[in-house]
Amino acid sequence: MSARARSCNCKEKTMNLDQIIEATSVMPVMVVDRPEDAVPLARALVEGGIRVLEITLRTAAGLDAVKAIRREVPDAIVGVGTIATPAQLEASIAAGAQFGVSPGTTPTLLKAIVDSRLPFFPGVATTSEVMQVLEGGLTVMKFFPAVAAGGVKMLESFRGPFPQVRFCPTGGINAQNAPDFFKLPNVVCVGGSWLTPKDLVAAGNWAEITRLAREAAALKP
Ligand code: 3PG
Repeated sequence: MSARARSCNCKEKTMNLDQIIEATSVMPVMVVDRPEDAVPLARALVEGGIRVLEITLRTAAGLDAVKAIRREVPDAIVGVGTIATPAQLEASIAAGAQFGVSPGTTPTLLKAIVDSRLPFFPGVATTSEVMQVLEGGLTVMKFFPAVAAGGVKMLESFRGPFPQVRFCPTGGINAQNAPDFFKLPNVVCVGGSWLTPKDLVAAGNWAEITRLAREAAALKP
């Protein structure tokens, strides 16, 4: 491996949002507690056909996990989730994020997202938040927390006033209810933590995670 690749000067493999959406069906929301789990976990998901990964900033290991996966798992498309501030956005880009995800959207964060040009799924849960993100010119959004905020019915209702908006619902989604979301024409992917249960990660049960990934990858029609 070249020194450049090792230091993760991750300009290579830049993807636009449409390419990322094209490669996504279920986006695992990954919470990495132990840095050494990052690469085997990502490999297990990719092995099961899930390539687009969201690594959250909920743990101290998040950004190092992004760097390691970018370096060691070339087939993965690596995003950073739980981005809530411009500083976190900047740190994510420096770590090699190929896209970003936020749980909600503030005017300050929206401006930073637009200025950065990083492919991004800004979080929304209400009509006013959808309108705010549209003001920034972005039309693909994370709908969070999907089930608690109204689920399938809410997304159906969004179609009337916002026919141009596509969503990645996340929060309360699993293998059982995901097919209901995939039936909606304004849903491009779904996200969830069910592919990476804490107990399986702690036990290093990568084979079972690959099985869950394979099952999830088959959910989108
Ligand atoms: C997220 O940050 O997107 C959610 O915590 C994922 O929700 P889930 O754990 O209900 O899948």
